[in-house]
Amino acid sequence: MTGTQEKKRVFIKTYGCQMNVYDSDRMTDALASDGYEATDSAENADLVLLNTCHIREKAAEKVYSELGRLRVMKEEAALKGRNVTIGVAGCVAQAEGQEIARRAPVVDLVVGPQSYQHLPQLLRDVAQGKRAVETEFAIAEKFDRLPAATRERTRARGVTAFLTIQEGCDKFCTFCVVPYTRGAEVSRPVDKIVEEAARLADAGVREVTLLGQNVNAWHGVGTDGREWGLGELLFRLAEIPGLDRLRYTTSHPRDMDDSLIAAHRDLPALMPYLHLPVQSGSDRILAAMNRKHKADDYLRLVDRIRAARTDIALSSDFIVGFPGETDADFEATMRLVETVGYAAAYSFKYSPRPGTPAAGHDDHVPDAVMSERLQRLQALILDQQTAFNHSKVGATMDILFEKAGRRAGQLMGRSPFLQAVLVDADAARIGSIGRVAIDRLGTNSLFGTLAEPASTSIQESNAVEVIS
Ligand code: SAH
Ligand code: SF4
Ligand code: F3S
Repeated sequence: MTGTQEKKRVFIKTYGCQMNVYDSDRMTDALASDGYEATDSAENADLVLLNTCHIREKAAEKVYSELGRLRVMKEEAALKGRNVTIGVAGCVAQAEGQEIARRAPVVDLVVGPQSYQHLPQLLRDVAQGKRAVETEFAIAEKFDRLPAATRERTRARGVTAFLTIQEGCDKFCTFCVVPYTRGAEVSRPVDKIVEEAARLADAGVREVTLLGQNVNAWHGVGTDGREWGLGELLFRLAEIPGLDRLRYTTSHPRDMDDSLIAAHRDLPALMPYLHLPVQSGSDRILAAMNRKHKADDYLRLVDRIRAARTDIALSSDFIVGFPGETDADFEATMRLVETVGYAAAYSFKYSPRPGTPAAGHDDHVPDAVMSERLQRLQALILDQQTAFNHSKVGATMDILFEKAGRRAGQLMGRSPFLQAVLVDADAARIGSIGRVAIDRLGTNSLFGTLAEPASTSIQESNAVEVIS
């Protein structure tokens, strides 16, 4: 029995990348049409879904410790006569399927990322006492059949939004599970993307981040009947009234084509921040990773992007301790970081993933060596990040106000370079872009002061249109 309340409540806990954040919202929307309302705590939910990540061992293990806690919660609820359904969605669900239910019998439902449109049916199966496991690949169907968010729900989610335009990956980097958990690359059609973006804008969203595991491999037939790449799509989306800012992630260096680079030069709505993972600075390791480009190709690409957009902020991902990585390989990574100069970057110890080619190598790097390398790399990245943030002190930038800040009377906004900026301003400004003079650098954010148009001295031209 589900208790006495009329509406059932669902709590979704999201792990992993932005695509999971997007998918969790889509699941909430699908369940809303099925009579579920979202709640923000597992304790009062009738359905708890873990939207999981399989990218590194730690990420996958977190799921099992959470399932341990949920088992206790489910047992306690049962004593009070309340039934709680526990489901595992996302990339661990896809990778492990039935195995999850074997290892954690508390799980009633396992659903892979391409099957969320089947959630209502799967829940009916569970209600009839079955254990439901669904891990089919049908990405196109997923997008066609998942309902859109209502205007109210979109509004409640804020002024920035994710929009998945491409899913899956055909690149098969030798360390990575994504091609196995998300399947082959599928691009959504232009009209569906434009429709969804327009709906978001209509509900008050000012900034959209286009998502894909390989977002710049997106392609489709454009409104002019020609084959479009991401560059052309961005130009089209920028025409939507109210969409002031566009971003995209994650891109692969091999898919940065000329029209996308041109968009960074010519499209004011495209923000000057680019996450362009390189993983390593060593050609030997890049080859073993199957990245299919050399360190120098990446550096030349960075030069071309910077020639198009001089102030662009770059970020990247790095793996240290890939099997066979020598001191010399690692030093090549450090040199690449020094050469590029990043605004931010994420770095990870290599984690062998079941079923991936690299996991079978026998030249694994000892953990202590990985730790030492990671620490050095992260110290260098932190220095660069601090220098980048510091370089904006004294500048005046367009800030999109997203939400209330930490203290009363303060708002949190984002710079074009994705920096968090805290400003004293009226809550009515949430959802608008204002000129802000950056005064100082705090621990995790910049602090700024509203620069009213009359007194603004623009010290930095960042090619972003002033809206307010
Ligand atoms: N599609 C993106 C990456 C998605 S995964 C790309 O091609 O760059 C996000 C990041 O996790 C990767 O960039 C990589 O740095 C890291 N990662 C992936 N598999 C990993 C593994 N087995 N061990 C450690 N880090 C890994
Ligand atoms: Fe993984 Fe490589 Fe595909 Fe990125 S490009 S998702 S790292 S296989
Ligand atoms: Fe993790 Fe799956 Fe994203 S493995 S990083 S949640 S695509």
